[in-house]
Amino acid sequence: MIPTRKRTRLVLRLGLALLVILAAAALTGTGPVSARVPTNVFAPESTHAWVIYKYTLLVLAITGAIFVVVAGLLAYAIVRFRQRKGDDTTEPPQVYGSEQVEIAWTVIPVIIVIVLVLTTARTIHEIQDAPRPPGSLEVTAIGRQWWWEFRYPSLGIVTANELHIPVSDRANPTPTFLRLLSADVAHSFWVPRLAGKTDLIPNRVNQMWMDPSQPGLYLGQCAEYCGTQHAKMLLRVYVHKREDFDRWVAEQKAPAAVAADVAIASEVASGKRIFETTACLNCHAVAGTVANGRFGPDLTHLMSRDTLASGAVKNTAENLKLWIQEPDALKPGSLMPPMHLEDRELNALVSYLVTLK
Ligand code: CUA
Repeated sequence: MIPTRKRTRLVLRLGLALLVILAAAALTGTGPVSARVPTNVFAPESTHAWVIYKYTLLVLAITGAIFVVVAGLLAYAIVRFRQRKGDDTTEPPQVYGSEQVEIAWTVIPVIIVIVLVLTTARTIHEIQDAPRPPGSLEVTAIGRQWWWEFRYPSLGIVTANELHIPVSDRANPTPTFLRLLSADVAHSFWVPRLAGKTDLIPNRVNQMWMDPSQPGLYLGQCAEYCGTQHAKMLLRVYVHKREDFDRWVAEQKAPAAVAADVAIASEVASGKRIFETTACLNCHAVAGTVANGRFGPDLTHLMSRDTLASGAVKNTAENLKLWIQEPDALKPGSLMPPMHLEDRELNALVSYLVTLK
């Protein structure tokens, strides 16, 4: 049997070791933490995020050292000079002024502040004054309650919630530059592994950029409280190899699909009629039809998206039905009105929508 004091010490040591391992894993971005957390700020995959990561480590190291010194001295003083039995309880002699100590505690913080100011300035310069190579892609991102609109002005593409961009390598850099706008209130664009936060503010144009080095799906989130569904204003950034990106562009530029299967063609046609004769077309656009609403997401290639309602649920026919009939069931307070269609109409409408690939 281990004595209680020894056991307590053992538990404390194990706890400390675990903390150190976790911190190291998070900091290097290669450990179990980064693999499980898709929004890990310690696992940057783009120059913008990398510059911020380096800066974060420096600030953490400096403030961590200050914490260890101050907390260590405090703990030492508390233990070493605690009250003991038989201590003299009269007031100790009072000491006033020490030039050396005062100089030290003025000069050291000033040096620390200067180092932090200079590195902050360099970090801001590296991010804000980044060059725009000729191959860079321009995307306009518009924050809306509670979804994202993405426009590619040079490609003539409009989509929602899921941003597709090419990977960028050193030999042939193709970074993506974003113009950030807001249609209503302040939002904030944040995909932690690709770039720092930048706000989208009404009547103002903000800029940001990212140059992801690895293909994959990167997750993010609106990072500025913007109303009831702020938490379900998720961001998905799909980073593609160049050829995959070009294929995605070609698919998005193609007109909306037409049902080829004769058996379902009449159902789809009646669904299209419902779409074009109800409130749908006031808010949504489908290229090549009379629907050109701009208040809600463009639906021309609706089924090319993995999620619905800005990442709230998977994009399936079942979820589409629920979303159209009762949006509050998926996203309470959303600005999409419930359509209250009859079952027959709803089925036809969804049959049409799922052809929009
Ligand atoms: Cu948009 Cu929070």
